[in-house]
Amino acid sequence: MDFDIEWDHRGLSSLKWEFIVKDGEPQPWDGTDARLGDNRTLPMWVADMDFRVAEPIISALRERVERGIYGYAGKTERYLQAVSTWMETRHGLSIDPDWIVPTVGIVPALHMIVRRFTTSRDSVLIQRPVYYPFSYAVANNGRQVVSNSLQLVDDCYEMNFSDLEKKIKDHDVKLAILCNPHNPVGRAWSTKELSKFGEICTRHQVLVISDEIHGDLVLPGYQLSSYGMLDPTITKNSIICTAASKTFNLAGLKTSNLIIPDAALRAEMKSEILSTGLWGLNPLGLVATQAAYESGENWLSEVLSYISDNHEYTRQFIAQHVPLLHVIPAEATYLSWIDCRKLGLSDPELQSMMMRDARLYLDEGSIFGPEGEGFIRVNLACPRSLLEIALFRLKSAVEEQGGRQ
Ligand SMILES: Cc1ncc(COP(=O)(O)O)c(C=O)c1O
Repeated sequence: MDFDIEWDHRGLSSLKWEFIVKDGEPQPWDGTDARLGDNRTLPMWVADMDFRVAEPIISALRERVERGIYGYAGKTERYLQAVSTWMETRHGLSIDPDWIVPTVGIVPALHMIVRRFTTSRDSVLIQRPVYYPFSYAVANNGRQVVSNSLQLVDDCYEMNFSDLEKKIKDHDVKLAILCNPHNPVGRAWSTKELSKFGEICTRHQVLVISDEIHGDLVLPGYQLSSYGMLDPTITKNSIICTAASKTFNLAGLKTSNLIIPDAALRAEMKSEILSTGLWGLNPLGLVATQAAYESGENWLSEVLSYISDNHEYTRQFIAQHVPLLHVIPAEATYLSWIDCRKLGLSDPELQSMMMRDARLYLDEGSIFGPEGEGFIRVNLACPRSLLEIALFRLKSAVEEQGGRQ
């Protein structure tokens, strides 16, 4: 696959390329149109890749579309087998296919989990700076967010375990949402860290949701430790969230899977899904996920190598040409977390500098929580040519900013 190709995204209703979020609502937007030349904005925000998906997925979808029948779909033995075989061969995680509960996306599942397993007086623990829909899932359901915030130590984000235990006790926490690997800080948590987290949560009977949607996007040299690989006394009270959507760029197909080892917990979750009416599988999502897991491995290793090179290119470019900024080393994901605090700008100022001066549409750090202030998250799953333009624009914008100060 040629990841250098700049595909035309216009006319696809692409959230990343054809919309801009204003007051929390995506609005149609043509600011990224290639016809604007140097004046176009480059979208490097939402976690979609700019790459065309693996050929086996396209041909499986083509075949399915050609049949011309798009009625309701259910999970098949083959689908469940494809998911469980992938988890076993890719990550060494043995699961019984019965443990798999398909859902229409991880974010909807998180909302359902919060509703089902907490009451309106409860607090839910997250580790900011973190993927902002975690907070939405809690706040949209009228629960309180408690953050066991990550600490940046020697260029590496770490969990604060004494704070974790204190927050659980002080707020009588019943539910914690873990991001593994972590979006946006790029950590692939080690088994040691996860065990410690799991032991504390188990001691206080906290249900742990391990969102492993980026689990296949661990960069060469690192490894995913799935929360599901921990001791069964720990995993008993857990739900692992997984999907082919980030890995294989299928997010619009709205198909994901929960892995729930405990039968009682699984029954509760299925009942919650029924109560929301969001049951069933998108037939195209099913076909694409199955094809991805059955035949997408080569494409994945190629894309990971391309993304890893983009990370390295970004790190070197910033270190050499924009020394006021600093790239936090990434172990996983195609997202780069960049420290801009030395610019001394507020987050609105930083955002406006990126949009107005650099013409880059990025995710500003503060949306991941106040712990992210002064940072930006840049999506590197794009052709190198676009990344080069983006980094040169970033360099010029920072230089102009320096001139202004
Ligand atoms: C950590 C994390 N969880 C969930 C999602 C989205 O999941 P879904 O599209 O299945 O709702 C994302 C998307 O970027 C993510 O980064």
